[in-house]
Amino acid sequence: MDRLVSVAAVFAMAFVAMSMGLPGVSLAEQVEACLSCHPSRASTPSESIVTGVPALTGQHPEYIVKQLERFSAAAEGDEDPFRRFSIVMGHVAKELPASERLNIARKLSAQTCAFLGNPDPPSVEPNACAVCHGARGITKNPDVPNLAGQDLRYLFYQYQKLREPYLPDVPGIEATNKPVRLHPVMGPVGAQLHDNVVSALIYYSKLPCR
Ligand code: HEC
Ligand code: HEC
Repeated sequence: MDRLVSVAAVFAMAFVAMSMGLPGVSLAEQVEACLSCHPSRASTPSESIVTGVPALTGQHPEYIVKQLERFSAAAEGDEDPFRRFSIVMGHVAKELPASERLNIARKLSAQTCAFLGNPDPPSVEPNACAVCHGARGITKNPDVPNLAGQDLRYLFYQYQKLREPYLPDVPGIEATNKPVRLHPVMGPVGAQLHDNVVSALIYYSKLPCR
């Protein structure tokens, strides 16, 4: 049954993705289409057709644009060292004209946070992630994503995808030769096990997104 639901969700996602990037679609309509999957206060995760979709509210617009380029590169078959595979987002990004990406990203970033946050969850000290992602999951560096208030399931999946290409080979287990998400900084950091990664991700997901 679960499998049937996820197959239906993929079809629904592909349909939404295909109706995007059509000529004559206004900026507001494009943003609405993104928010039919991406949660914000107006469209909470429970109303989204799939779980584990990241919130883009409060995210750096430059980071959003960069990820769109990476999805697009992977969908076009580029050997970009930062490529990122996603059937759904590959299609969305490919159809989105480069000239519109920053405007859409700014609008999405400015939406009300999906999760309004608990301003004071117990912090995780020492937290090896804070150097780059900030003590409260918000950073000034637009190359580094904010993690505050992000969907917890999404954070777990991406952490796993990023570290996988850098994990040492395990005898008997075939190494992946087609990594889903490549990043030469976050990948190696993720491959070094930190005892408190899980607590850090839970902590970040509970913080307000701004
Ligand atoms: C049909 C559902 C769907 C639609 C529509 C959609 N997205 Fe996505 N988006 C996803 C999913 C699923 C992911 C997670 C992909 C992965 O696993 O890497 C994602 C990931 C992203 C990311 C990566 C975020 C991060 O934290 O790294 C960005 C940026 C993004 N989408 C932007 C957009 C924009 C802009 C639009 C509208 C033009 C849009 N998306 C429309 C489903 C969707
Ligand atoms: C040296 C800097 C650095 C450190 C330390 C670091 N990260 Fe990252 N992290 C990054 C960068 C840069 C990215 C963006 C990767 C990209 O652009 O695809 C990232 C991306 C991520 C993502 C994906 C977020 C998204 O929106 O898709 C997660 C999850 C993450 N980091 C978790 C962690 C955790 C947990 C730790 C601590 C164990 C950590 N990071 C430590 C630099 C760092």
